[in-house]
Amino acid sequence: MRIVMLGAPGAGKGTQAKKIAAKYGIPHISTGDIFRANIKNGTELGKKAKSYMDQGMLVPDELTVSLVMDRFQEPDAQKGYVLDGFPRTIPQAESLDAALKESGSQIDFAVNVDVPDENIVKRMSGRRACVKCGATYHLQYAAPEKDGICDSCGENLILRDDDKPETVEKRLKVYHEQTQPLIDYYAQKNVLREVDGTLGLDEVFSQITAILGE
Ligand code: AP5
Repeated sequence: MRIVMLGAPGAGKGTQAKKIAAKYGIPHISTGDIFRANIKNGTELGKKAKSYMDQGMLVPDELTVSLVMDRFQEPDAQKGYVLDGFPRTIPQAESLDAALKESGSQIDFAVNVDVPDENIVKRMSGRRACVKCGATYHLQYAAPEKDGICDSCGENLILRDDDKPETVEKRLKVYHEQTQPLIDYYAQKNVLREVDGTLGLDEVFSQITAILGE
């Protein structure tokens, strides 16, 4: 099964993608996580990506597409995946379609997690992330067992640099301009499915499993 997660920054794409990956036994491929891992490891890609991410802008398509195409070559991605944060522009979606066509496959579902902008800034300021394993928490809605410590790996949790309110506003603007058009793109391909992302974590996941099947 090949799934694309759509939605504004902070809509809950990553939270739901991790649950999908665990339930359906497919890898969770998050371009944001891959960039953050590169930043943490001080790679050339990380240095380039950071300058865009810190300003709430998108990393250029040519860097992003080649990174995802490389990831698709890994053995665990051969039977499917859940893409989180990619594609994010029409050219990225077209590159993805071209690559899938070459391998005789296609996107099965594009799941749009719909959350209005008003809810987003509040969600982002409460998010805490683990830079080591990529787990995410929320101070109010999904708190870790021990304050400030990742349940999965014991690392300290941080507020992401790009989760500060002024950067979140810029990310929302970029989302509406460059990523929201993908909703129509996938609707035209008859693979778009909408879920109400304002509900609780488990209710959102129930809507998704109703779409993907048990
Ligand atoms: P990326 O990491 O992909 O960020 P994003 O898309 O902006 O999404 P987020 O990770 O911020 O949010 P999310 O929707 O996954 O929400 P989450 O589940 O964490 O990208 C970061 C940057 O990298 C981009 O700005 C760009 O610069 C660059 N980049 C990445 N991909 C790129 C690409 N393809 N092209 C170019 N540049 C790219 O949830 C948010 C919070 O809410 C959490 O605290 C969570 O616990 C909580 N929460 C989740 N669901 C619920 C719920 N139902 N109720 C209450 N709380 C909830």
